[in-house]
Amino acid sequence: MSELVRFGISLDENLLKDFDALITDKQYSNRSEAIRDLIRNSLVEDEWKKGKEVAGAISLVYDHHKRELMDLIVAIQHEYQDMIVASQHAHLDHHNCLEVIIVKGRSEKIKRLSDKLRAVKGVKHGSLTLTTLGKEL
Ligand code: NI
Repeated sequence: MSELVRFGISLDENLLKDFDALITDKQYSNRSEAIRDLIRNSLVEDEWKKGKEVAGAISLVYDHHKRELMDLIVAIQHEYQDMIVASQHAHLDHHNCLEVIIVKGRSEKIKRLSDKLRAVKGVKHGSLTLTTLGKEL
């Protein structure tokens, strides 16, 4: 880890009051920790925008009784197998399944895979959570 550097920030009083309330709400132990998190979030979002290699999780909820849905979801995953690190399937009830697919690759390619899976007929809900490989933070 690199050396810690201290620096001052000038801020409008009301803005600081609101920020302190947010810090309490989000359970940060101090302002420095909260500001560090904000900076890291911005850097990670920048990685996504610049199409760098990132990590992510695609979650899908679907009814496995729907015809051809399972075949299609598996076929798409094979098509993108170079990016898929792991996947976990959970049976939520008699009809519904939750599948979480962990991915690693260029952000735009991950988004394309996520869009493709979410567009499969019978997928009730899909979400993509992007994060970072953590190398540059
Ligand atoms: Ni299932």
